[in-house]
Amino acid sequence: MKRRDFLLTTGAGLGAASLGGLGVASSAINQTESIRYDLTVQNAQYGLTDTITKDMVSVSPDAPPPVLTGRQGQPMAVNVTNSLPEYTAMHWHGLRIPNAMDGVPYLTQVPIGESETYPYAFTPPDAGTYWYHPHCMTMGQMARGLTGVLVIEEPVNPGFDADQVVNLRDFRLNDDGSFLPVFTGRGAARGGTLGNLHTANWLTRPTYDHTAGSLLRLRVVNTDTARVHKLYLSAAEAKIIAWDGHPTLDPITLPTAQKPLLVGPGQRVDIALQMPEHEGQFIELIAKLPGQPKVIASLRAIGATKNRSLRALSALTPNPVAAPNLRTAQTHEFVFGWSPDESTPNNGICGSLGYTFWSINRIPWAGDAAKGTGPLATLERGQSYILKLRNESPYTHPIHLHGLSFLPLRSNKRRLRRNWTDTTLLLRGETVEIALVADNPGDWAFHCHIIEHQKTGLAGYIRIN
Ligand code: C2O
Ligand code: CU
Repeated sequence: MKRRDFLLTTGAGLGAASLGGLGVASSAINQTESIRYDLTVQNAQYGLTDTITKDMVSVSPDAPPPVLTGRQGQPMAVNVTNSLPEYTAMHWHGLRIPNAMDGVPYLTQVPIGESETYPYAFTPPDAGTYWYHPHCMTMGQMARGLTGVLVIEEPVNPGFDADQVVNLRDFRLNDDGSFLPVFTGRGAARGGTLGNLHTANWLTRPTYDHTAGSLLRLRVVNTDTARVHKLYLSAAEAKIIAWDGHPTLDPITLPTAQKPLLVGPGQRVDIALQMPEHEGQFIELIAKLPGQPKVIASLRAIGATKNRSLRALSALTPNPVAAPNLRTAQTHEFVFGWSPDESTPNNGICGSLGYTFWSINRIPWAGDAAKGTGPLATLERGQSYILKLRNESPYTHPIHLHGLSFLPLRSNKRRLRRNWTDTTLLLRGETVEIALVADNPGDWAFHCHIIEHQKTGLAGYIRIN
């Protein structure tokens, strides 16, 4: 397979012409200067444990991928240079941007070769918490560290004194700090291969200092390749204000040890917190893990209290996502399950795990450069749709759709919160219906965010004409 053998040509070249449909209020676009970042994907080393771990992947030689900050309605230019001797491509998870900027090899762009630069340029239509990760050599590069958080600020700060990003990542390490194999065939065919070192921002149990009594926006992002986290906070004045980037419409109650919040790979939660009143008091972010709950990060109050109250925050303004018309919506069904036969994946240059275990609608995705694979569904631009997602397997799948936000409607197993999202958990035996307006044209990747599932067949794409 030659690198320039595009799978498809329809998606390419839509580029900036497709910006129109997303309905950003023109008043939000008052700054024309681009926010610019230059990122070089490279090998890194870092002290994840007492010994330095080599063979990590980041955008600097000795630090985790930084939090990138953009602003709703303001153009961003992110030049991604590849200095690795393998291919890459960068995806902006959750951003509703033009297809050509989506970073999916063979669907929206040619992979970025060694010493090449891809000039990503887009205007985020939505404020909130998003993230970035490679979509070529996805397993190896993500597992070795290349997952970063992308904060898109509201045009006006809703009243926080500070922001704290917590990027949740597990790594799979030997005792000497070197990497264990980043995936296993056994894990790929089951729930995914879990890491053995739990980190927040590449640190084990970090403590972050914030002024006592101040208002903090905690942005928790699960960028792990496999783990569905069950999270809660130690007692605090707190409120969940956003889910998967978007302000909550259907309130999510604050999780507890008994009822933790499920946050799957790819998902995000924003929590408004009032820091404790007294210096030295803590709020802990706790993960329920097999065995014992673990403190993943702590927030420590410092200084004299600011005495702020959560009531002082203004409500977040909803993002301009079009509401689907459920009466006219057509339904498409998708079945997530095993691969129907012993089909072998192709050896696309974006990396193959060597197995095909999974499928969508009985079609296993054969690899990044799968030839002759059509869309799982073709949607008409501007129309409303219901997608019925059925999990035939006994494992949980965080199902992610690129380029659009959707609303979970109902499940056969539980009450779903009707909040805009781009990634929804599909539990064992669960059928979930989601609704959306197909307002962003292009070929949009649709896959499980357990990367071993994605890379062994549980992937495809949806076309919007
Ligand atoms: Cu966050 Cu196709 O991925
Ligand atoms: Cu999956």
